[in-house]
Amino acid sequence: MPKTLLNAEDIAHSFDYPLFSNINFKIHQRESIAILGRSGSGKSTLLHIFSSFIEPNSGKVEIFDKEIYSLSEDNIEDIRRNKLGIVFQAHYLFKGMKAIENLEIATLLANEEIDNSLLERLEIKELMEQKIGELSGGQQQRVSIARVLSKKPSLIFADEPTGNLDKETAQLVMDVLLEYIDKHNAGMILVTHDEEMAKLCNKSYKLENQILEEI
Ligand SMILES: Nc1ncnc2c1ncn2[C@@H]1O[C@H](COP(=O)(O)OP(=O)(O)OP(=O)(O)O)[C@@H](O)[C@H]1O
Ligand SMILES: [Mg+2]
Repeated sequence: MPKTLLNAEDIAHSFDYPLFSNINFKIHQRESIAILGRSGSGKSTLLHIFSSFIEPNSGKVEIFDKEIYSLSEDNIEDIRRNKLGIVFQAHYLFKGMKAIENLEIATLLANEEIDNSLLERLEIKELMEQKIGELSGGQQQRVSIARVLSKKPSLIFADEPTGNLDKETAQLVMDVLLEYIDKHNAGMILVTHDEEMAKLCNKSYKLENQILEEI
């Protein structure tokens, strides 16, 4: 049986107004799940809740059978560093550093090695000696994906990872992510506006009218 990577039960959250409630969600090893929904519907917030960064107003989130919002900050940090791969809408690369240095920091912290075949696959191997600030948006996006995968995470959270990319490069990035989860028994939760990208996943949900429904 594939293991459950994340189990969320009865999640509700509001900021100035209620964003969503009653959200139940599970993801297993080797599964990819897309979350669609209009701008402002709360997709990024939900992803932050699932990925240990925002504690919801109510409900529980278990990652690898541990209820994350009852763990100490050190234990959460340990899980983030070793098990989770997070590609956010704003990618937090160190702008003044070379691309390769950004990867080295991540692999060093997670005790892993840089995988050159991954850099070739993402067509960024030749850019490694350049500073992040000198790269295009789409190139930075791919370095940020390489950084996340180099850590060898078990569960990937990706918020619009193909948002800055042309169609062909977007397809390439999706192929790389899906091959990764297959090869490493990992899972991926993907937030996207792009229905074509969602169709490449095993399942799709839509966040609409404050509920999350499988489509
Ligand atoms: N930290 C915050 N404090 C207050 N309100 C917030 C906060 N973060 C998000 N919001 C509000 O919650 C709503 C949902 O935001 P969220 O970023 O989750 O939407 P989204 O579905 O990801 O949108 P997009 O597709 O544009 O990225 C928005 O109205 C936003 O202003
Ligand atoms: Mg968003």
